[in-house]
Amino acid sequence: WVHTGTYQCLYRVSEPAETSERSDPVELVLTDHCFPPPGISMSPKERVGMGTNITIRCSNMYQGATFLHKDGHSVPIQQQDPDGGGTATFTLVGVTPADNGTYRCSYHPKGFPFLSSPLGDSVALEVTPTPPMAESHGNLLVAVLRVCAAALIFCLGVFFVLNARNLWIRRDGSPAGEKVK
Ligand SMILES: *[C@@H]1O[C@H](CO)[C@@H](O)[C@H](O)[C@H]1NC(C)=O
Repeated sequence: WVHTGTYQCLYRVSEPAETSERSDPVELVLTDHCFPPPGISMSPKERVGMGTNITIRCSNMYQGATFLHKDGHSVPIQQQDPDGGGTATFTLVGVTPADNGTYRCSYHPKGFPFLSSPLGDSVALEVTPTPPMAESHGNLLVAVLRVCAAALIFCLGVFFVLNARNLWIRRDGSPAGEKVK
């Protein structure tokens, strides 16, 4: 515990006697297995369409900063404070196949900013490449259907005009059939 905390560097030169500014900080955080791993839930579950908003909830009783991790990433991808009930809510807005993967939570117990719980259970996200029937896509479908209907009506019209013309020509201009009579 005594080694946890924030570290920064600076340097001094003697001629002329000057001190540099401090570096960016690094944090030394210890994972403490005395703290139970957080719970996790995801909605909607399992396979979702592209563009869906995904909610991941992480719960713990220690009320500290809560972190969302994605397997394969060395640092947490999001951080949230929990609500009064000890649940932190993370949102992945408009997911794409790039969001596919395995997600886990951890937390820093309140009052121990440099101690971390172990990572908890995982949830798996699988985004299907087909977009959901969102409003804009619904509108697009309606537009496509309208064009198709218009084309169909136009074709039917042309068909009837040509048919009528053929009938007219046969009755009027082609005596071949008449001669048989
Ligand atoms: C997803 O969340 C964003 C931002 O909160 C919102 O603007 C959008 O309407 C949501 N989309 C859906 C499909 O719920």
